[in-house]
Amino acid sequence: MTPLIDPFARPITYLRVSVTDRCDFRCTYCMSEHMQFLPKKDLLTLEELDRLCSAFIGLGVEKLRITGGEPLVRKGIMTFFRAMSRHLGTGALKELTLTTNGSQLSRFAAELADCGVRRVNVSLDTLVADKFAAITRWGRLDQVMEGIVAAKAAGLRVKINTVALKGFNEDELFALLDWCAGEGHDLTFIEVMPMGEMGEEMRLDQYWPLKDLRARLAERFTLTELAERTGGPARYVRIGETGQKVGFITPLTHNFCESCNRVRLTCTGELYMCLGQEDMADLRAPLRASPDDALVGQAIRAAIARKPKGHDFDYSRQHVSGQVSRHMSHTGG
Ligand code: GTP
Ligand code: 5AD
Ligand code: SF4
Repeated sequence: MTPLIDPFARPITYLRVSVTDRCDFRCTYCMSEHMQFLPKKDLLTLEELDRLCSAFIGLGVEKLRITGGEPLVRKGIMTFFRAMSRHLGTGALKELTLTTNGSQLSRFAAELADCGVRRVNVSLDTLVADKFAAITRWGRLDQVMEGIVAAKAAGLRVKINTVALKGFNEDELFALLDWCAGEGHDLTFIEVMPMGEMGEEMRLDQYWPLKDLRARLAERFTLTELAERTGGPARYVRIGETGQKVGFITPLTHNFCESCNRVRLTCTGELYMCLGQEDMADLRAPLRASPDDALVGQAIRAAIARKPKGHDFDYSRQHVSGQVSRHMSHTGG
């Protein structure tokens, strides 16, 4: 089997799968309150998702991240995790993990751990209950905190993902850091990307460049760059004084596309070769055309052969460019 290599000689070994575009929150930077979701009839079944993911694993994918929307609101999702865990058993898959808003973790953490999940990324932008309610519109902080406690109790490592938002969580930088240090969670900050329908002015207003955030950290702490990678886009530093690890995902201030190793599958079987581009390949038609995986394999290879060099997100000169119209919840970040 020839591995999946894109036109820029990047091996594709990481598949992110958005199993639903639905979510029980409505984060203001992610979606509108009256978000239109895909009709349920368009969704791939869990068996079809299994077939597609297994085809990717057969082609050399070693890391599978389940996302959404909120992946844990998809009905029967544990059946899918259980099914994917067989690939951990054979050694073909090195990591099975998920990115979640944490709302359903207290129900599912133990079972996730039992399926071979070792760590979870939980999105959390603030530690203040009122601010949490405001930014997620529908979320409750204590429910997420309970979820995080359950994850830890189940033996899962937790990485907190925080979108850096000017005027929103700037004042919580050190509080977030302290809390993560105390709980033993890793922490990664993310620059807000121009995805979905939010207006240009609002995006620019909320954008907090991570080079500024990092400079603020460096005023108080000694930061040492780490060479270690988790296979994702984050670059990590160690904070000398607390020993904790902090990651930065910087699509705007420092493009990391040259080392991209991933593609994204949506819940309707579209394959997006880049988070920041509109091009996609339909895998549902070849999947349904034949019970054999040969057609799907060909469609995957043809799609990888046109993976673009990178995104074009840019906020310089007080203008948003490279925007993509679909929401983050469609492709799962
Ligand atoms: P680990 O390193 O395995 O912990 O995960 P990760 O950082 O790859 O995954 P995670 O789901 O935590 O990703 C966090 C966020 O990074 C996503 O929600 C996206 O916002 C962003 N991200 C991930 N991959 C890409 C990418 O290829 N391009 C861009 N621009 N952003 C990405
Ligand atoms: N820019 C950056 N991150 C975003 N997320 C959602 N929308 C955006 C955006 N426009 C984040 C969520 C979560 C992850 C899946 O993506 O907060 O951490
Ligand atoms: Fe849901 Fe995540 Fe979007 Fe918030 S950012 S609305 S939790 S998908």
